[in-house]
Amino acid sequence: MRKGLEKETLIKAIDAFKRRFIVVSPEFKILAAKRETSGMEHSAILGEYCYKVFYDRSSPCENCAVEASMDKGKPILMPKPEESLGLNEMPCYYAYPIDSGEEIEAFVSMDFDIPTRGGIEEKLLWSNAFLRNLIQNSVACVIAADKKGKILIFNKAAEKVFGYTEDQALNDIYIRDIYPDKVEYEVMQKLRSEEYGGKGRLRGYTVNILNKDGEAVPINLNASIIYENENEVATIGFFHDLREELRMKDELAKTQAQLIQAEKMSSVGKLAAGVAHQLNNPLGGITLFTKLVMEEYDLEEGAKEDLTRVLKDAERCRNIIRELLEFSRQTRDLKQPLNVNTKITRTMFLLEDQAIFQNITVEKDLQSSLPHVIADSQQLNHMLMNIILNAVQAMEEKGRLTIKSYTTAENDKVRIEISDTGPGIPEDVMPHIFEPFFTTKEEGEGTGLGLSLAYSIVENHGGSIIVKSKLGKGTTFIIDLPYTATSNGGDKSGD
Ligand SMILES: Nc1ncnc2c1ncn2[C@@H]1O[C@H](COP(=O)(O)OP(=O)(O)OP(=O)(O)O)[C@@H](O)[C@H]1O
Ligand SMILES: [Mg+2]
Repeated sequence: MRKGLEKETLIKAIDAFKRRFIVVSPEFKILAAKRETSGMEHSAILGEYCYKVFYDRSSPCENCAVEASMDKGKPILMPKPEESLGLNEMPCYYAYPIDSGEEIEAFVSMDFDIPTRGGIEEKLLWSNAFLRNLIQNSVACVIAADKKGKILIFNKAAEKVFGYTEDQALNDIYIRDIYPDKVEYEVMQKLRSEEYGGKGRLRGYTVNILNKDGEAVPINLNASIIYENENEVATIGFFHDLREELRMKDELAKTQAQLIQAEKMSSVGKLAAGVAHQLNNPLGGITLFTKLVMEEYDLEEGAKEDLTRVLKDAERCRNIIRELLEFSRQTRDLKQPLNVNTKITRTMFLLEDQAIFQNITVEKDLQSSLPHVIADSQQLNHMLMNIILNAVQAMEEKGRLTIKSYTTAENDKVRIEISDTGPGIPEDVMPHIFEPFFTTKEEGEGTGLGLSLAYSIVENHGGSIIVKSKLGKGTTFIIDLPYTATSNGGDKSGD
């Protein structure tokens, strides 16, 4: 038998319990209850029907756990009615019999469930944790804020895109801090209007947000207002970072432009090669027979001069044909490891004594022990020559020519930069400079083949060529050529 103190303590323990805990007779009359059950002093409810006291009914409730326990003679857990999720209105859904050995004397009825793992609080906690996990690990950035703009939810994806930790976002900043000026206002206006997915909703809105470093990040925003009894209590936004998508679009557009360029080069190249071959024979004839006439006939000085001019022009035609053939890659293609610095030095050696270089300051900044590129020596000469000549011609023989070579950290390339202090390339000219036969020079001064040749040579070497130009300031050609990881040092090109 339990002693007085133990009994007293047990009763106190039951009274201290926060949940409904009553003992009823098989007739549903309350025999005992913890203090302050249902807001009433427990003595007031003793002897009353439980269904009357708790639910103001005149008969036992449907779903009564006591009744079921009575039927089965064992503890019963009744399914919880859906509408009773509010903790204040929890029904008696767990009951177990008290028997004296032979017959059942009474039933304990409670509004909570002992035998299931954890009880309702734990379930709530568990589902809360599950929801939090879901939000935290969502691919989209999820940010929720209360009416005042205080951030309530800031998931991991948001941490990545916005640069704040969850803690910083929740404590140090407000939702307005992630939007540029007035954009938060704009977003709220759209959310409240009917036009962007219905009242309280905003779908697929592209907007820039500000990350922690103040950088604008383009995002696609889906957001909604959370209402409670028709009052706005919070907003929740799903932010999708568009940077990667835009970068890919950009790259695609660039690749397309390059493809079109390459296609153009190749078709014009083929045509040019065909024409060049056809011209070679008659040109050979012109040169041969002119020489024959000059040697076999006793000509006047004037006639000789004219024929020399014919020969010179024929030679010029031949050179153009050679350029054309080179451009369309109909010439040899002998690739071997070589040092770009040696190519630059040799090209400059050939050019620097020319008259057009007289008033040009040349600056060279060549990285020592540059890795080798696998390239055709003659083609590299051509490429450098064309770009350098263009630069000098653009400066109208006065200015500074800078040639740099170095390896780029990011893409394992040897980079050559050729800059001039010329007039720059106008915007309307820029898209055409690599086109064959495009020239802005006077007739007879340029064929327009220099850059198209340079382009096809660089492409043939797996490299890239880009141009940066500022009107009135000058132009820089940047050529990247892939280098071989193993070789380093001097020139083996045998030049
Ligand atoms: N460094 C530069 N500064 C300004 N404009 C340039 C420069 N390089 C090239 N250009 C422009 O690009 C055009 C095409 O150059 P490209 O070398 O293909 O032909 P070209 O120099 O006119 O003739 P060619 O080289 O066949 O004698 C030039 O006519 C010029 O307008
Ligand atoms: Mg040129």
